[in-house]
Amino acid sequence: MFTSLRFLNGNSLFYLCIFLLALWHSGASFEVSNRPVTEDCLECLCEAMSGCNATEICVNGACGIFRITWGYWIEAGQLTLSNDTTLNEEAFTNCVNEPRCAADTVQSYMYKHGQDCNGDDLINCLDYGSLHKMGNLKCRAEVPNSFGSVFYKCLKLKEKQEKMKKPILTHI
Ligand SMILES: *[C@@H]1O[C@H](CO)[C@@H](O)[C@H](O)[C@H]1NC(C)=O
Ligand SMILES: *[C@@H]1O[C@H](CO)[C@@H](O)[C@H](O)[C@H]1NC(C)=O
Repeated sequence: MFTSLRFLNGNSLFYLCIFLLALWHSGASFEVSNRPVTEDCLECLCEAMSGCNATEICVNGACGIFRITWGYWIEAGQLTLSNDTTLNEEAFTNCVNEPRCAADTVQSYMYKHGQDCNGDDLINCLDYGSLHKMGNLKCRAEVPNSFGSVFYKCLKLKEKQEKMKKPILTHI
């Protein structure tokens, strides 16, 4: 482990430390090894669900920035904070109100239920949006406009930002 670190240059070592520090700080006890959902997609999900606003903890039983319900959390494998256990009645709200635990709950749900909801032969953020909003059994249905208008606009913006990041090689 430590000998292999020598092959990292200063910069990547710096980022590795930041990453480990962030991981430690998040106090996450769970191990989510499969993360099919990109950061951009997570941001658009929370934008469309709550405006990424963590002020209001639960709205009609849907909690945190992703507005996760109890049933969704169960389906996703009942992730908990490191100092918590599933025996605690508050384990659900404690997890989904903590952004890292909430995001990993989304990852875990999508890993389990990921499917091509819109029939375009891909499993991507469009499907994750439908899965998140409609649930895995109804993900082929159209999402309500209140969700869709924010979600699709956010994805378009992310796509544009992604294109601007890429170097332009066509004129060389
Ligand atoms: C977040 O939600 C609370 C409660 O609904 C609201 O009072 C507050 O203005 C919101 N914050 C932002 C930044 O939208
Ligand atoms: C568990 O950790 C969270 C922060 O990660 C903290 O807010 C909470 O009070 C802790 N609970 C206990 C029982 O220590």
